[in-house]
Amino acid sequence: MYTGIKHLHSGLAYLLLAALIVSIVYAFASRKKPFTAGSKKIALIGLIFAHLQFVAGLALYFLSPLGASNFSGDAMKEKVSRLYIVEHPLMMLLAIVLITIGYSRIKRLGSDSRKYDSIIIFYGIGLLFILSVIPWKVWP
Ligand code: HEM
Ligand code: HEM
Repeated sequence: MYTGIKHLHSGLAYLLLAALIVSIVYAFASRKKPFTAGSKKIALIGLIFAHLQFVAGLALYFLSPLGASNFSGDAMKEKVSRLYIVEHPLMMLLAIVLITIGYSRIKRLGSDSRKYDSIIIFYGIGLLFILSVIPWKVWP
């Protein structure tokens, strides 16, 4: 179970990063064009991978020896274990909340260019948060 979810989480990370980059580049390139159902679908792919990755990460947090079971004062003092216990989960949660807000705003915003801006800004900041807490020493 642990190994399977760990591989899923590791693999979904590629798909999520790719989907976020495609969403942002597409929104940036389309800013002056109408916002269509297709534009929304591209952003939806990023949202779905973000939500899936969150569920996989949450499961991993309770299955992995690096997650909740490693919680202690000593682990907090050590950079790598603190990354897995606190920084990685919290920043990733924040990133996914931002991505979800960016997607939800599409329904409410009036003008097409502001819909694209919502994706560029919220997905963009979300992507930066994600990149800041990926454990680069062990991934890819
Ligand atoms: C703990 C797990 C999850 C939480 C807390 C969560 C939370 C949310 C929230 C708050 C929204 C609202 C966005 C809006 O305002 O429209 C949303 C939308 C959505 N979620 Fe999740 N989600 C979770 C898991 C998943 C999973 C596993 C998937 C799919 C594989 C998924 C797919 C979607 C989709 C497709 C939408 C957008 C619906 C639309 O088109 O408006 N979510 N989710
Ligand atoms: C945007 C969301 C996320 C991304 C892109 C992401 C990415 C990654 C990557 C690339 C790894 C390294 C996997 C490997 O060693 O091959 C990892 C490990 C881990 N992630 Fe995430 N993660 C995300 C969200 C989360 C969340 C929300 C949690 C917990 C609530 C979480 C918990 C963990 C844990 C516990 C590990 C260590 C697994 C182990 O080696 O035993 N992740 N994550």
